[in-house]
Amino acid sequence: MIRAVKGTHDILPDEIGLWQMVEASARSLFGRYGYREIRTPVFEETQLFARGIGGETDIVSKEMYTFEDRMDKEGRSNSLTLRPEATAGVVRAVIENHLHQTDPALKVFAIGPMFRAENVQKGRYRQFHQVDVEAFGVADPSIDVEIIEMAVSYLEACGLAGSTLLLNSVGDSECRPAYTEKLRAALRKEASRLCGDCQRRIETNPLRVLDCKVPEDQEIIEGLPRIADSLCGPCEAHFAEVRRELDLLGIAYRQSHRLVRGLDYYTRTTFEVVSGALGSQNSVLGGGRYDGLVKDLDGPDLTGIGFALGMERLVMLLEGGRAAPRCDAYLAVLASAGRDKALLLQRELRRSGFATLMDYAGHGLKSQMKRADKLGARLVLLLGDDELSKGVWTVRDMASSNQQAVDDARVIEHVKEKLHG
Ligand code: HAM
Repeated sequence: MIRAVKGTHDILPDEIGLWQMVEASARSLFGRYGYREIRTPVFEETQLFARGIGGETDIVSKEMYTFEDRMDKEGRSNSLTLRPEATAGVVRAVIENHLHQTDPALKVFAIGPMFRAENVQKGRYRQFHQVDVEAFGVADPSIDVEIIEMAVSYLEACGLAGSTLLLNSVGDSECRPAYTEKLRAALRKEASRLCGDCQRRIETNPLRVLDCKVPEDQEIIEGLPRIADSLCGPCEAHFAEVRRELDLLGIAYRQSHRLVRGLDYYTRTTFEVVSGALGSQNSVLGGGRYDGLVKDLDGPDLTGIGFALGMERLVMLLEGGRAAPRCDAYLAVLASAGRDKALLLQRELRRSGFATLMDYAGHGLKSQMKRADKLGARLVLLLGDDELSKGVWTVRDMASSNQQAVDDARVIEHVKEKLHG
């Protein structure tokens, strides 16, 4: 039997309700903040990610699905990569299509699959899905706060409770180099006690040491110099204003000096929402400011900030919460002579906007009621011999178990009253 590739999964019809709800909430909420959807290709030239995300990151150094494209007529081929995240592709699209020229405060969001060759575990897949949000061209800290507030509101709108917002600043090209050197010097002193990966990172990218999850390294990492103590004046002021506005809006956060994030493009504000219920892969969403990225990818000097949410993780947290009802009205037809009448009513109810289902196989009452219940039907419309002879439907409200006889001519109106209030 051929199975799904390791680290990929099907999203089955029983699960799709939550996925659609999460997508619909994104479209509806983000629109209110001025974001419009953008769809970029699933694969891009490898160098976009290598340059954008950073060669020393885990993503680029060991997790990319990279392949050679077919050769062109001249015998040349390109190295291509399945997108491991959305930001680099969105930035490329902004630059290539000059989107910032018509909209200097451009706001976009994207929803779709990403690909990382990771060690598979609960909440960590090789094909996973993100809701990604990016805002360009606004340097003011108010946009940082707006985007964080939107992220928090989005999780609330989806019904997620009990998560924690983490916040940090990673400085910029003015102050980070000096901090990196300070960190490197401190790390060299501890090198022999650190894991192999961290020993290598001391020289290649010391900030990545702060991401290390190896238990034995944790005590050493906690004692390292903190970036918050090394921020330059403008970065310090930016961070202070972000915190002030978050307080103003009553958004609770915890400052986390180790939140440098796994991608190299971040400057200043970084943030993550974590949930204890997720286990070791506890990050529901993460993001931050990336003021140098557009320019680094040969675009204009345009600031940027954004975040991405892991849809599998959010859906996992919401599972069991809200079951998506699949049926407004279920037609339980017990009189075989009533079938044509039921078919006509089914069409009319669907035309009136109601999810309507009926049983074509002529099952008994008990089995049909069980099915209606499983589908989450709000109303069951019963048609037995008695109803047929009297020209009525018995309408049962599944929540209250009340039922009443409703004349054929009034049945659509009755369903509308019941379901639309
Ligand atoms: P990231 O932290 O790499 O950031 O990913 C964002 C979210 O995607 C994570 O918080 C997690 O929920 C989900 N995620 C990441 N890897 C996996 C995986 N292997 N399986 C399941 N879920 C996963 C970014 O991707 C940045 N592009 C975010 C951003 C946008 N920064 C600025 N703009």
